[in-house]
Amino acid sequence: MTERDGGLDHGLTDYGDRDFSRYLRRSFAQSMGYSRALLEKPVIGIAYTASDFNNCHRHFPELLEAVKRGVLAAGALPLAFPTVSLGEVFLSPTSLKFRNLMAIDTEEMIRAQPMDAVVLMGGCDKTVPAQLMGAVSAGRPAIALVAGPMMTGRHRGERLGACTDCRRFWARYRAGDVDAAEISAVEGQLAVTAGTCAVMGTASTMACLTEALGLSLPGTAAIPAVHADRLRAAEATGAAAVRLIGSKFTPAQFINEKSIENALRVLLALGGSTNAIIHLTAIAGRAGAKVSLDHLNTLSDSTPVLVNLKPVGNGYMEDFCAAGGMGSLLRELKPLLHLDCMTVTGETLGARLAGDADGYVDRSIIAPLKKPLEPSGGLVALFGNLAPQGAILKRSAADTKLFEHEGRAVVFASLADLAARIDDPALDVAPHDILVLQNAGPHAPECMPEAGYLPIPKKLAQRGVKDMIRISDARMSGTAFGTIVLHVTPDAASGGPLGLVRSGDRIRLSVKQRRIDLLVDDAEIKKRAAATRPPAKTPERGYAKLFAEQITGADEGCDFKFLRPQ
Ligand code: FES
Repeated sequence: MTERDGGLDHGLTDYGDRDFSRYLRRSFAQSMGYSRALLEKPVIGIAYTASDFNNCHRHFPELLEAVKRGVLAAGALPLAFPTVSLGEVFLSPTSLKFRNLMAIDTEEMIRAQPMDAVVLMGGCDKTVPAQLMGAVSAGRPAIALVAGPMMTGRHRGERLGACTDCRRFWARYRAGDVDAAEISAVEGQLAVTAGTCAVMGTASTMACLTEALGLSLPGTAAIPAVHADRLRAAEATGAAAVRLIGSKFTPAQFINEKSIENALRVLLALGGSTNAIIHLTAIAGRAGAKVSLDHLNTLSDSTPVLVNLKPVGNGYMEDFCAAGGMGSLLRELKPLLHLDCMTVTGETLGARLAGDADGYVDRSIIAPLKKPLEPSGGLVALFGNLAPQGAILKRSAADTKLFEHEGRAVVFASLADLAARIDDPALDVAPHDILVLQNAGPHAPECMPEAGYLPIPKKLAQRGVKDMIRISDARMSGTAFGTIVLHVTPDAASGGPLGLVRSGDRIRLSVKQRRIDLLVDDAEIKKRAAATRPPAKTPERGYAKLFAEQITGADEGCDFKFLRPQ
């Protein structure tokens, strides 16, 4: 019996007799009907995340066939394996809770099973970050293939896309502008095909950042899920995975100070999702790198918003793809990017951009660097006595009239409190007040849900109020909009000052100064801190216990402490 290191011989099961291990593995592999010749080939693992609980991955069976075609044609054996899949809207209390579980699953299955390289098939919000986190830690050559975005639907002649339009219509329904029959009709037109949300939400943002980091094939981030080009991209990704065999470039080598800065520039130019900051921080953390919020602010000052997609603009992902997609955006940003960063094809970002220009750009969707949509980046980090370790505001989706504002706090102590009182006609709230939600951060039992988009109290919505400053330690869907301060760190449940705000306090937001401050004197704050109750009891068993014991703050990407490199 000849000895190989790769292919099916990778990481043999240990029975104390290596030849027996190979003999047994091959015997069982043959039971799947593969020829001996095929079993001698290198193996490409395919991390496969189709699930009946994940509508965004509905087309994965067809996409998988295309990946396998590409692998086989390039001379290797494709073997798909299932991992945890996270369908954003089907998970309770929130998908973020399970991102690290999926990352652990992905990492361990890549490492434990015999594969020479791996294709990561993900798409829906947390799946791509989870796969990249796992793949960085697993240390095997890897390439990502994203699901691609949904196409838009139509309602009475208007284009609709999940999920910015979901929120827009729901706000109109709450305000009484849209009746029950119409909201029901809209419900059927918001998510009409396979693929990820149709706007520049978290999934689309992460798809674009994955390409910016060099971890997926050029030009693949924005291809619609149901387009034939998506299948061709899948086939090409399978072939590219074969070329990665034996490469010294594992995902960790693509993550460094320069590539992170490139990704942040792209995020800012996209007006992308606030969630991407958490995910990028977690992915970088796995490679021992850091995403600094101070540095984000520096980059934000010199990176304009160029992409006109919802929720900050008008278009949808299918428009971004037709407009030239990531290639066009990266070419616009070229003077600001580190062009020596490597991509998964083996060429530098600079070489990629020199090679893939066909010249066409739809300027209604991708603005030129010299004539941007907004002069500075879509996201800004805030600091101050309310958020000593930072908070995030998506200024491109916010109302500029509220950027310098002082107001009275109306505090909700928890999500349950919010649900119970927000629409109470007796709620003491006025349009210039600031809504504060506590105990919805990573250390709260709800594990940092996308609850930061607090609804406008019904009685104000009915008076036509569309936006108010809202502050929380929660996250917000990448598809949402408003003057919303998120990820306040440390969070209330870990003893952060957000938990010490009381209704009637004054709060000041200054985007110019990058500050969010509670205007209460230090002695009173100390008094409140001393009187604060201890945090809720830790769950006694299972993943919930692990999560509660290991979760880090938003400033560390909400990764688990024990998963970060020592
Ligand atoms: Fe899957 Fe939005 S629900 S990306």
